Amino acid sequence: MLVGFGNHFATEAVTGALPVGQNSPQRVPFGLYAEQVSGTAFTAPRAENRRSWLYRLRPTASHPPFAPYDGGSRMRSAPFAEVPASPNRLRWDPLPRPDAPTDFVDGLMTYGGNGDVANGSGIGIHLFAANRSMTDRAFQNADGEMLIVPHAGTLRLVTEFGVLTVAPLSVALIPRGVRFRVELPDGPAHGYVCENYGAHFRLPDLGPIGSNGLANPRDFETPAAAFEDLDTPTQIVQKFLGGLFTTTIDHSPFDVVAWHGNLAPCRYDLRRFNTINTVSFDHPDPSIFTVLTSPSDIPGTANCDFVIFPPRWMVAEATFRPPWFHRNIMSEFMGLIEGVYDAKAGGFAPGGASLHNCMSGHGPDRASYDKAVAANLAPHRIEHSMAFMFESRHVIRPTRFATESPLCQLDYDDCWSDFQKAQLPR
Ligand SMILES: [Fe+2]
Repeated sequence: MLVGFGNHFATEAVTGALPVGQNSPQRVPFGLYAEQVSGTAFTAPRAENRRSWLYRLRPTASHPPFAPYDGGSRMRSAPFAEVPASPNRLRWDPLPRPDAPTDFVDGLMTYGGNGDVANGSGIGIHLFAANRSMTDRAFQNADGEMLIVPHAGTLRLVTEFGVLTVAPLSVALIPRGVRFRVELPDGPAHGYVCENYGAHFRLPDLGPIGSNGLANPRDFETPAAAFEDLDTPTQIVQKFLGGLFTTTIDHSPFDVVAWHGNLAPCRYDLRRFNTINTVSFDHPDPSIFTVLTSPSDIPGTANCDFVIFPPRWMVAEATFRPPWFHRNIMSEFMGLIEGVYDAKAGGFAPGGASLHNCMSGHGPDRASYDKAVAANLAPHRIEHSMAFMFESRHVIRPTRFATESPLCQLDYDDCWSDFQKAQLPR
């Protein structure tokens, strides 16, 4: 594994495969084909610029035409307008295991999203439930990078850049356009995906926190080059401008023998997050838990933030310690990887999800509120819990699948009922 976020890496699976000193020599070692993959515009500022050079057995360009993919996919794309938008808060039970054999691509179900894939803004939010490995096929997403957040099962991600294995409490980030295959070495797998149509995820600035803290660059792991020399037909499924397309090539697309650059898949173990919080009173805003951010054109106002709520000590004095009641201009989609979230006593299960859109009032349920105001505020550690949030400047519009699913909890509003009126002195 190589480490660092957005670092320039150089790796070769066969000694001597990587050209030295130039990107595109007249003759690449062993007759490999040089291919540049640009994740940003050529002219993007240096600090933003992401590109890698791949040296492969065959050029990606060699393929028959793509045709529409007719796999009955439940994957949807922005702009999301399947059902009228509403300010209602939504929450879902976890997805059941699929009945039929289902791989990662066919197991993706879109719950909502925002923006417009055609102008490179917004996100698509998907959950997946898969019970078999992708075999002789690969997925490629031209519409956005994919942040994969498993909550059950292990994913072995075979990518053009090498192999990453992610299990619950780790996440993977696959750059836009990079081909990958998802294998399930331990059986069925479930999880969440944030498909980011906007500016690529990066580490947030740390401001007064200083040069260390939150997610540290050294903890992002990128695969070393690894390749398949297989002349077996392989189906490519590509997402492009909201649609799914397919073609079949006569070899494995995972034939990159060497690569260098700073555009690459990576893995991050959420347990390595250096959690920072109050040691006096009150709460910093939950942005203190930001792992990765995709900025928008408004400073400090993200196209999407990936935020986690990890195990941590709660020591705030004279403070209501769970998340407070709030209304937020940003829209919040939450999931739970394991454990219990400290603002909800029930109903928000691992594998479930909730959506609290722009300016919708939400916060602790009645049981969590009562417990918090009665608590003896000794130092307390939240253990075995990992919730997360995809937070966006744009309203997240649910899909028809999400709103009409029997998993959608029709009684969600009830968790905030029966709060007694405050009693003013008479
Ligand atoms: Fe919230």
